[in-house]
Amino acid sequence: MTPDSTGRIRTDIAHNARVWNYWLGGKDNYPVDRAVGDQVVAMYPSIGEVARADRAFLGRAVTYLAGEAGVRQFLDIGTGLPTADNTHEVAQRIAPDARVVYVDNDPIVLTHARALLTSSPEGRTEYVDADAHRPELIVEAVRPVLDLGRPVAVMMLGILNFVLDTDEARSIVRTLMAAMPSGSHLVLTHPTLELGGEGNAEAMEFWNKNATPPITARSRAEFASFLDGLEILEPGIVSCASWRFAAATEVAQFGAVARKP
Ligand SMILES: C[S@@+](CC[C@H](N)C(=O)[O-])C[C@H]1O[C@@H](n2cnc3c(N)ncnc32)[C@H](O)[C@@H]1O
Repeated sequence: MTPDSTGRIRTDIAHNARVWNYWLGGKDNYPVDRAVGDQVVAMYPSIGEVARADRAFLGRAVTYLAGEAGVRQFLDIGTGLPTADNTHEVAQRIAPDARVVYVDNDPIVLTHARALLTSSPEGRTEYVDADAHRPELIVEAVRPVLDLGRPVAVMMLGILNFVLDTDEARSIVRTLMAAMPSGSHLVLTHPTLELGGEGNAEAMEFWNKNATPPITARSRAEFASFLDGLEILEPGIVSCASWRFAAATEVAQFGAVARKP
């Protein structure tokens, strides 16, 4: 574990980035994260599968965007702790000149950010410590790295679920996408109580009493509303496990990729 260089890390309450890392089999977590993580697994046994399916979706979506769609700029908001196949690694394997800006507001992600800054020489990666609740600040912070005159893939995987007010979540997406030119993309995943995820209600209630930040699930209609005004690519809004993949089982996490016309 990297020592806390920021003085902001709390080890008395479970944090999402660290528990997500625990479910993915990582080592960057504390006893409090593992205890809460295990209790969530007891209530909602497929959560580990959700986390792995979400990362696999990230891999397929970025592969499509950097490859077929020719996107060269990525803004990954709610990055999480470094793991296998981070966005810049997937993108730069296909397009070494790809530029990636990571954004997260968790102090532990900041202390590990160096592991995300291993850019190919032709490309660039940067890390911004910022809050998704302030999208206009994110847009300003990325300008030195991303050319907002050229398409950007805005990635928000498993993060809008931490913006509890649906109108605010919509407005965050609108602000970000309004700053991006035609040909930009929005990549989203979000937990739901649909798709067989009904059992997640109890686990989310437990999470909200024992961990941070608080979370909410959303319906298909709410998820679709985040994509308003964009062209949703095939196969549409599906379980992220099944997005351009013949998955044996679905997970209760919507996934979609949409293009700004
Ligand atoms: C479930 S993890 C997802 C990580 C990664 N995107 C993935 O799909 O594997 C959510 C991440 O969002 C971050 N996050 C939560 N609320 C945030 C906010 N308001 N601003 C920025 N990041 C936030 C957390 O710190 C965490 O790293």
